[in-house]
Amino acid sequence: KIIDWDASSASKEGYPHFMLKEIHENPIAIKDTISGLLNDIDRVKEIAEEIRNAERIIVTAAGTSYHAGLYFSLLLARRGYTVMPLVASEYHSVRAKKGDIVLAISQSGETLDVKMGIRKFKEEGAKIIALTNVIESDIARESDYKLYMRAGPEIGVAATKTFTSELVSLKFLHSVVERESLDYLEKAHEIVRNVITETEGFAKKIGEELANKNNIYYLGRGLGVPLAMEGALKIKEIAYIHAEAYPAGESKHGPIALIEKGFPVIFINTGELVDELEKNLQEMKARGATTYSINVNERLNFSDNEIVIKSDGRLAEIIIAPIVQLIAYYAAVRRGYDPDKPRNLAKTVTVE
Ligand code: AGP
Repeated sequence: KIIDWDASSASKEGYPHFMLKEIHENPIAIKDTISGLLNDIDRVKEIAEEIRNAERIIVTAAGTSYHAGLYFSLLLARRGYTVMPLVASEYHSVRAKKGDIVLAISQSGETLDVKMGIRKFKEEGAKIIALTNVIESDIARESDYKLYMRAGPEIGVAATKTFTSELVSLKFLHSVVERESLDYLEKAHEIVRNVITETEGFAKKIGEELANKNNIYYLGRGLGVPLAMEGALKIKEIAYIHAEAYPAGESKHGPIALIEKGFPVIFINTGELVDELEKNLQEMKARGATTYSINVNERLNFSDNEIVIKSDGRLAEIIIAPIVQLIAYYAAVRRGYDPDKPRNLAKTVTVE
């Protein structure tokens, strides 16, 4: 008997797609990222000191990495830091100066817009910190400080485990900046493993329901906003459905006009500003939206479909990341697309 075997299916280790395999590798990526940062703790402390002393922190990144950058910016902003999240290609719009710190986030370490930005900001006098997944990548080499996540190779064009590893690295760094204990990260990988097991069925159900929709809103508040943005980007990239994310409170300033019967709206509830989020959900429902909610610890009343995860609230965003990845994956597969090779997209964008 000839065994049907090829290298690519072997490396998928039984999964139908790299993307699904990589989503399931989130726990190991988290574990390796945390142990790598713990081994490198002196460097992390040095970087944290630079951030504490900076006049401004500019966070530059593209796509998924930008969403991780926004998450970090919000963590710092709520502690009173002057921080500016910047979509990498808009580097011309910002002038850095001595005393500024620029954090460049790029899983590949090669994204040209990020590279161009750090060159300009360096010339203007800022110090550069890089967070990448590729040792000695261009962005790492051109930076004053290098921080590595250890997500392992990511083959799927859509970033999954590297996004979660970025969140973990940035949460880790933020805790060091704030001189908080890191103990809560110790079990993060196990928690995420259990969450994936418990929520995959729910994510599949939602993904398959979304597969025949033309438009989707993802809404969140606070630290949930970057997760909503990432959820919407994943849906666009691989399922080719128009999906948009907003801070939930902003949705009443325009986006709500599109809501009609059956319009799907997914709420990201990290457990903060729950009452406000619930009001937004009711506003959507009153206009006929079909609502879904992904909740950590606190429920949103009146959601048509919900999943509630009881866990350490400090890990909320890290827990939610794989769920939005799974939703997009199952929507794409139901629509008959190959999520590993989205049209018009490249894994690394080295053009302006
Ligand atoms: C993510 O799914 C996309 N493929 C894309 O947005 C990506 O995150 C972006 O191009 C940035 O890549 P980088 O992290 O390698 O810099």
